[in-house]
Amino acid sequence: MSRDALRKTDVQHHLHPFVDPMKLAEGGVRMMVRGDGVFVEDAEGNRFLDGMAGLWCVQVGYGRRELIEAARRQLETLPYYNTFFGTTTEPVAALVETLGARTPGDLNTFLFANSGSEAVDSAVRLVRHYWSLEGRPERRAIIGRRFGYHGSTVAAASVGGFEKMHAQGGLPLPDFHHILPPYPFESGRGEEPEAFGLRAAAALEEKILELGAENVAAFFAEPVMGAGGVIVPPDSYWPAVQEICRRHDVLLLADEVICGFGRTGRDWGCQTYGIEPDLMTMAKGLTSGYLPLSALALGGRMAEVLRRGGVLQHGFTYSGHPVSAAVALANLAVIDDEKLVARAGGAQGAHFQRGIRSLAASPLVGETRGVGLIAGIELARDGAAGTRFEPAGHAASRAFALCLEEGLIVRAIREGLAICPPLTITEDEIDTLVERLGRALGRLERELR
Ligand SMILES: Cc1ncc(COP(=O)(O)O)c(C=O)c1O
Repeated sequence: MSRDALRKTDVQHHLHPFVDPMKLAEGGVRMMVRGDGVFVEDAEGNRFLDGMAGLWCVQVGYGRRELIEAARRQLETLPYYNTFFGTTTEPVAALVETLGARTPGDLNTFLFANSGSEAVDSAVRLVRHYWSLEGRPERRAIIGRRFGYHGSTVAAASVGGFEKMHAQGGLPLPDFHHILPPYPFESGRGEEPEAFGLRAAAALEEKILELGAENVAAFFAEPVMGAGGVIVPPDSYWPAVQEICRRHDVLLLADEVICGFGRTGRDWGCQTYGIEPDLMTMAKGLTSGYLPLSALALGGRMAEVLRRGGVLQHGFTYSGHPVSAAVALANLAVIDDEKLVARAGGAQGAHFQRGIRSLAASPLVGETRGVGLIAGIELARDGAAGTRFEPAGHAASRAFALCLEEGLIVRAIREGLAICPPLTITEDEIDTLVERLGRALGRLERELR
């Protein structure tokens, strides 16, 4: 079948995530065919600097022989076996050991799944199961945040705070609640950022008191909110949230699906912000997206209770897939050998953030923000004053299209752009990224004027 025929079938019979099928049918689908380093290429031979690391996940870049060879070796030795009913495999056991040495504190008991959504879904079940075992089954409520993204399964989408997602499928499920996110550009204009951070944290306590602390199981939150628009919290936010969770005995889950594995300049986003969570979810950068794998890390408090809680009635056929685990081990070795986390937290990350900040000079940029190798740009009709465009979303989707024309992939989120390149990106490649983004913003400005 020719590529054109394949594309046609794809558009007609493949329901794509987060795309309007009618618009896709009109505009056609782009077929990606290969990748190397921080670049990907489509079937027409257009080459793009991938400023989104795939979908916030390709930490080590494309085409890494170490990961490919690890997958090949494991496929030849034992392509599949499960972890049900008292079995394990060597790569999975080794991954438990390796991950346990990287996770902070006593977060060293792991449950494996295939996606971030499944890890979050599993966390919802396990925190409720934990409270039942503790004799507190009424602690069921899960609190998330508006613009929090935690996945697409019914529980994960219920934790998430997107009305458009909730509208499809009758969500959120009962006992899921959402509070104000620490998003100064949206809700704290004119307020001193640290005061706003405390106000956003106080929203958690208000919700806990409204529901009754005795009914609240956990607060689920990303250290930096990714898919909600790269929302970087003021410094005052996390210490206050931590204190509120402790005081009301509410479990704190750090969703590290984007922040984990070096993205914010430390191994974990919770280290960047001094958070000590009770449990943590991870995916994406765990295998650099080469194969699906996610994990839920439990601290000693939950792990001890669950260990004595009888048969765990939970698991997936691919919980701890040996080939994914082998790739994860190779991926973590590359991250360590090339000191990618220290680079993201050091010169490379600083160079990237300077480059993104330089774009604030554009009259269309309301705000730039970021940490490590993740950044967000807020587009506004009149730059610093921050007035939003009407209709919302148009400027960002045009900016996204113009970036593609300039050979750069970013992501449009509401009226902003997200940038999250592979951690392997060099300073020269960062300069290329910023130049292309700057050119696209310049063209957008001329278009909108
Ligand atoms: C913070 C966070 N949690 C969970 C998920 C869901 O992960 P997945 O798409 O692998 O199900 C995502 C995906 O972007 C995410 O960013």
